Amino acid sequence: MQLIHTISELREALRQYRHPAVVPTMGNLHAGHLALVRQAKPLGDVTISTIFVNRLQFAPHEDFDTYPRTLEADCEHLEAAGCDIVFAPAEAELYPQAQTFKVHPPTELADILEGHFRPGFFIGVCTVVMKLLAVTQARTALFGKKDYQQLMVIRNMVKQFALPIEVIGGETQRNDAGLALSSRNGYLTPAQREEALLLSRTLRHIAEAVRHGETDLARLEQEGMHALRAAGWLPDYVAVRRQSDLHAPQPHDAKVVLAAARLGTTRLIDNLEI
Ligand code: PAF
Repeated sequence: MQLIHTISELREALRQYRHPAVVPTMGNLHAGHLALVRQAKPLGDVTISTIFVNRLQFAPHEDFDTYPRTLEADCEHLEAAGCDIVFAPAEAELYPQAQTFKVHPPTELADILEGHFRPGFFIGVCTVVMKLLAVTQARTALFGKKDYQQLMVIRNMVKQFALPIEVIGGETQRNDAGLALSSRNGYLTPAQREEALLLSRTLRHIAEAVRHGETDLARLEQEGMHALRAAGWLPDYVAVRRQSDLHAPQPHDAKVVLAAARLGTTRLIDNLEI
């Protein structure tokens, strides 16, 4: 496995390949990322993982400075998972000057749910993903479904810009108790890791109710918010939406239930397709 830090070195390494399959990450990798790398392996002739903590997608009060940087351990895991190239640029390499050209996703997709509570987040994500797809010459790109809205925004970006890239979603990986794997779980204390199970439990409860024919989605959402608040969480949203565009569903639409909530100082997100 090659560890590459510069765009010119990456271009040189990629000359011999026709179909890079790429897994963009911010590092501090867990089994969810590694599952994406394994999924990517048969889909291209070279498997690349990018590791870059993207300042553009963090608000000033968020955890950009404290986000764990664990390159050495990440590389060991990636090599074991069959990754061929790790592209880990320094900030000055990817953003050698202020990134004044940005990708602005449409408000109806990107200013709801996560985008409502993290204004500008998807501008930062789209801008860096566009750049990472360009420098890695991706033909296939994989993103986890845990970031459901992110996957949808990126899919739409790739489609509208007619990029010759297939975007693939990887299933959310969970621990045995049901907690969705996330780099931010590392911020939780052992007691909070137990408490964190309430998020997936709340989503499962709502998904079951909808599967059993409950149609009062607003009531289910409010009950979910209430259950989280009652346990001391600060929920941003619990929402049942249609899978295709994350807007309010009609009765026969395929649905997904999504939630974001703060447990102590850690903000967790999760979702379940119904
Ligand atoms: O999901 C992430 O880790 C990031 O948002 C991504 C897609 C790597 C862009 O920085």
